[in-house]
Amino acid sequence: PLPPPFQVPLRVPRVLAPVAPDRYELIAREAEAEILPGVRTPIWGYDGTFPGPTIELRRGRTTTVHHRNDLPVPTVVHLHGGRTPPESDGYPTDLVLPTRGWSGGHSRHDPAARIAHSSRDYVFPLDQRAALLWYHDHRMDFTGPAVYRGLAGFAVVRDDEEDALPLPRGDREIPLLITDRAFAADGSFAYPSLDPSLTRVPGVTEPYTGGVLGDVILVNGAPWPVHEVSATRHRLRLLNASNARRYELSLDPPPPDGPAFVQIGSDGGLLERPVAHGSLVLAPAERLDAVVDFGRYPVGTEVTLVNRLGTGTTGHVMRFRVARRDRDDTAIPPRLSEVERLDRAQATVTRDFAFRSGLLGDRHGWLISGRAFDAGHAVARPRLGDVEIWRFVTDLHHPIHLHLVHFQVLARGGREPGPYDGGLKDTVDLGPGEAVEVITRFDGYRGRYVFHCHNAEHEDMGMMATFDVV
Ligand code: C2O
Ligand code: CU
Repeated sequence: PLPPPFQVPLRVPRVLAPVAPDRYELIAREAEAEILPGVRTPIWGYDGTFPGPTIELRRGRTTTVHHRNDLPVPTVVHLHGGRTPPESDGYPTDLVLPTRGWSGGHSRHDPAARIAHSSRDYVFPLDQRAALLWYHDHRMDFTGPAVYRGLAGFAVVRDDEEDALPLPRGDREIPLLITDRAFAADGSFAYPSLDPSLTRVPGVTEPYTGGVLGDVILVNGAPWPVHEVSATRHRLRLLNASNARRYELSLDPPPPDGPAFVQIGSDGGLLERPVAHGSLVLAPAERLDAVVDFGRYPVGTEVTLVNRLGTGTTGHVMRFRVARRDRDDTAIPPRLSEVERLDRAQATVTRDFAFRSGLLGDRHGWLISGRAFDAGHAVARPRLGDVEIWRFVTDLHHPIHLHLVHFQVLARGGREPGPYDGGLKDTVDLGPGEAVEVITRFDGYRGRYVFHCHNAEHEDMGMMATFDVV
């Protein structure tokens, strides 16, 4: 039986302490967690926790994270939203083999793979704007089950520009990692892998090939938690870390006056100007930075964060209890940041990619322009520094993510970008039969990177491709 909602307190993941200036260490390992009250759930976690510890990063300070793999299977870590050189970006065949050894071979032939034994240093120059990033497992073919078991955590990049703004901070800045999970009768996460050893055969059993959904919503690893807030502005840093579920978040009751949320940022950091929304749509891997003013509610109000795209147990996410009045010196400045706007005329190349279902061998798969992931094959070779337009078309819902770059959405369905397309994005949510155009400059580093659908099951079942910055 599932626990009643809004009983378990919200936890904020602990901030990872450096072992030396700008150097961190994390161990991916098996552990047990009490997620449902009184139930022990085996997890895979960074430092044995789910979510993993939060890594606080500073723009322009090159930071090293040493990852050790004490899990029974290979791993590879990706800093999602990071502008990272290719050797530290977590290319999906750049495996870190288990400390206890590995005889499982490789599910992929890739002579260029950078294989490490036991551990590896990931080096992040962080030549990028303040933004909420996250790190997660990215092993080819088995990202879905590994992230489902818990291999995900926040990484927050901060900079002087953002620090100078009078936004809510401290315990009024709350990172919320939202996932859905299903539990088996023994308390373990129920994930329908075709190959539960996560060794050879990728993918999930037939009714789940569209993506694995759960009936329990976890926020920072707690089921439908409750959190006490003062009647002041709070900055909610939302991440949809679910494998496949999309959310439309709103507040119940809605505030008596005006829209519930003021969006101040997106995947790639602050927007130019705040944008008010009554609800927020979040596809897997997307982030939204939104301010909620609980001062608009009477003290004692219970405000539920609901999911309009869910039903039953997935129709609510968490609850805020407006506990007391307090002083509020924060403000949302009408101008938040400077975002360089790219223009169509700057683009030297336009590329088209179709995200559709297809066959992976003799099984159901997900393909990009008719091909499944092939580590040896780059489907695009943008030149370093060039501006390109990429056009995506889809059959069903696909959240499409590019490594290395942040992009701007130019058009959606031939029209103006949608309400959540503003600012700099690294993941764009496409609906069934939709077409989206994005524009970006491929700068930073040369080398091979991936782009893929961030529905983790689609990604594992082929919907990933390589681009090579030359
Ligand atoms: Cu969130 Cu390619 O990853
Ligand atoms: Cu997809």
